[in-house]
Amino acid sequence: MNGREGAAPITPTAGGQLGVREVRTEADFAAVLELRRRVFGDEQRIVDAGVTDPEDERAFHALAALPVEEGALPVGTGRLLLNAGRQGEAQIAWVATLPEWRGRGIGSAVMRFLLAAADEAGASLVVLSAQTHALDFYHRLGFRPYGHRFMIRGIEHQWMARPRPGW
Ligand SMILES: CC(C)(COP(=O)(O)OP(=O)(O)OC[C@H]1O[C@@H](n2cnc3c(N)ncnc32)[C@H](O)[C@@H]1OP(=O)(O)O)[C@@H](O)C(=O)NCCC(=O)NCCS
Repeated sequence: MNGREGAAPITPTAGGQLGVREVRTEADFAAVLELRRRVFGDEQRIVDAGVTDPEDERAFHALAALPVEEGALPVGTGRLLLNAGRQGEAQIAWVATLPEWRGRGIGSAVMRFLLAAADEAGASLVVLSAQTHALDFYHRLGFRPYGHRFMIRGIEHQWMARPRPGW
């Protein structure tokens, strides 16, 4: 499925092999959109009006990639939007790891990268709308649920918030 049959085994979380970087080029942003399309389009069918939104232009995007013989393989992504809400809270969205690379710390690495950027920018609170299957994933990263659960395209969601450490 991932097209790496026969290739040397990769352990993304060992030895710092996984790279997470801020998206600064058209090529990296294209890779982000392809990851979103595969996860939120092909897999979850939660989007059909495209995998971008108007906030993408002013947001901070993360791209996680693994070194492979051919170069770098994009495997994960996420987006941070500063001053997203009325109280100045930041918001994380579009967090995704390719299905065949899950459970190896990639999503956590992307989240830590986005949270570090939020903390550095002085955001006192980061919120996100979590799919409830991922509540534990976000809980481990310091997020706590608030408000009611709600459905989007048949997938249950829950708002979660994480104050800046020491705030
Ligand atoms: C949620 C998601 C980004 C996690 O990515 P990942 O690369 O698998 O995350 P990690 O490997 O860093 O997971 C860290 C831990 O959280 C756990 N975890 C990850 N996703 C989980 C889930 N959906 N439910 C429960 N636990 C989960 C992992 O088991 C892992 O635990 P471990 O360290 O004890 O093994 C990935 O499952 C995904 O892309 N899902 C589809 C899209 C999605 O739901 N995005 C979030 C929208 S709110």
